[in-house]
Amino acid sequence: MFVFAASDKGGTGRSVTSSNLLYRSALQGNDVCYLDFDFGSPTAGAIFGIERAENGTATGSGLHRYLLKEVYEPERIDVWTATERRVFRTGHANTGRLVLLPGDVGDGDFPDRADLQDRCLELFLRLNEEFSLCMVDLSAGRNLAVEMALKVTAMPEMQRIPTRWLVFHRWTRQHVVAAGGLVNGPRGLLAIAETSGHNRQDFANKLRYVRTAVIDPAPLTQSGLTAKQGIWLDECNRRLTRLAGDHQVGKNLLLGSVPLDPVLQWQEQLITDNDVASGVANPETRNAFEQLAKRLVDDDSWETL
Ligand SMILES: Nc1ncnc2c1ncn2[C@@H]1O[C@H](COP(=O)(O)OP(=O)(O)O)[C@@H](O)[C@H]1O
Ligand SMILES: [Mg+2]
Repeated sequence: MFVFAASDKGGTGRSVTSSNLLYRSALQGNDVCYLDFDFGSPTAGAIFGIERAENGTATGSGLHRYLLKEVYEPERIDVWTATERRVFRTGHANTGRLVLLPGDVGDGDFPDRADLQDRCLELFLRLNEEFSLCMVDLSAGRNLAVEMALKVTAMPEMQRIPTRWLVFHRWTRQHVVAAGGLVNGPRGLLAIAETSGHNRQDFANKLRYVRTAVIDPAPLTQSGLTAKQGIWLDECNRRLTRLAGDHQVGKNLLLGSVPLDPVLQWQEQLITDNDVASGVANPETRNAFEQLAKRLVDDDSWETL
């Protein structure tokens, strides 16, 4: 399966959530792969704790250079062995492979050339043979990486491969409106998908939303907030729920929500079971990533949202 992670804005939690989702999927026994298609800012290495690729790879053989045909194969980083955080694997039997294909340090967006699409298709087909789940982290907004992904997934060769699209947004007015616009707007994903050769309705069925850094008003009311703040937060939550419905970003298209976690607020990283056991990260956050990883590949939960 190929999953494309998009967002209208930067800072939505797209990369951190995608990385954690993929990490949980590997712990569940799946061979998984992360493609950093955020060509302007390929920082996924930092989340996986890989210092030499925290800003993209400097070897000159990242995904960007691969697509431009400057190298024969894109660099692959085995996260389990390359990460500085040795505790990643502990306590899990039958862990799958977790591989990062980094972007290139210092490269920007790339030219809109048809041969890049063929190159991208070739890569997707090859990775699909090796991994059960490949996540493609697209940069924010409508850009060439998004357009290329839409064109490549419309190609006949990709039709036998299940593909899904996740749109990430924070639980705020601006983010809800922006996420709806990214998908349904005049130059939104649905429109570009259609001009790229997708059937609009089929494509819409492959797309779900993920809310990130969501404050749950209920428990906070009991700890740290005044009664007035709790009531206001509750009302705010209701307004956002209505707004999300109006912008077609509502509950029936929601794959899952990730709660606001203090660890992620301060540092982009994978949440390990150790982080939870030591009391630093919240168990609800870990559970949310685990649930996302399961729902994503489960046809029944995908269809019955
Ligand atoms: N559930 C969360 N709780 C708190 N902070 C979060 C959460 N998810 C993401 N963040 C933080 O938000 C910031 C933006 O996340 P990032 O994944 O880099 O966004 P994007 O890839 O959309 O630009 C990061 O500092 C990240 O750690
Ligand atoms: Mg990112």
